[in-house]
Amino acid sequence: MLEKASCCKVNLLLNILGKRPDGFHELETVLHPIPLCDRLTFERAGAGVEMTCSDPLLPVNSKNLVFRAASLFAAAAGLGPGEGLRIHLCKHIPVAAGLGGGSGNAAATLLALNELFGRPLPLSKLEELAASIGSDVPFFLQDQPALATGRGEIIQPLHFFPALRGASFLLVHPGFGISTPWAYQQLARFPAALHGTPGRARRLIMALLKTGLEAAAAEFYNSLEAPVLWKYPLLELFQEFFRENGAAAALMSGSGSTTFALTPTRDAAETLLEKFKAKFGLGMWTAIVPSQGPSPSGGEWRKWN
Ligand code: C5P
Repeated sequence: MLEKASCCKVNLLLNILGKRPDGFHELETVLHPIPLCDRLTFERAGAGVEMTCSDPLLPVNSKNLVFRAASLFAAAAGLGPGEGLRIHLCKHIPVAAGLGGGSGNAAATLLALNELFGRPLPLSKLEELAASIGSDVPFFLQDQPALATGRGEIIQPLHFFPALRGASFLLVHPGFGISTPWAYQQLARFPAALHGTPGRARRLIMALLKTGLEAAAAEFYNSLEAPVLWKYPLLELFQEFFRENGAAAALMSGSGSTTFALTPTRDAAETLLEKFKAKFGLGMWTAIVPSQGPSPSGGEWRKWN
């Protein structure tokens, strides 16, 4: 039996550069690990892939990225029909939230199974399988911040950023999810967001390395906000509220719906959360996590209803 934590991410920047002939979008994105994790357990037992999940609303068949990752691993490693796998996924990260929870689960599955079966596959093969599962999956094969290019699958790991030292992330999930394909499709109606200028990622990374939190925060950007904030203006109100109440930055992560605020200290994040609750009421999922991961136990999550 092997247990693995599977953590999530936010995008400090998601700059879309245009639509590609294969239907995906070319982009540059800066991903930051968030020490807020699901838990997976893996056992060599039974026949074929059997999966269970703490969330009854999630599929436990080939529609689940964990199941897909396990099946791809089994085929690539040449596991026989008698070599079964039992996998349990205990979900904490919100779904369809722009946090890459499902992608992280898939990457954790590839890494765990490779460990469980004595490392039959090299990292390059795991990377290839990861990219075939989803654009965000390769990022989760490592645990550093990273620059991702291509459709998001080409990863350049980076050191933790000096500008974020001591800072905290406050994450808010509004209670509804957003479909990633929908968000990308809508870009056709927002030409400026569809055709971003390359180089924003480099500027942000330089600011994160060489300047402070305020200057770096001015470089945060997400092209997908154009369609998503248009459809869900509540998310724009969250961002304005965060900026007016002590956040250095506020942005939507990925294709949403999670909004994150970055504060210089943990105390500032706690104060901001109290003000947010007083203004917007209860019933949303929130978390405060330190910016310097990736310790799975370093984070904290909670839900208030
Ligand atoms: O790669 P992944 O399966 O996560 O992508 C989900 C969907 O998001 C794709 O089917 C596509 O519609 C859209 N997408 C895109 N360009 C990207 C990444 C995702 O158009 N770079």
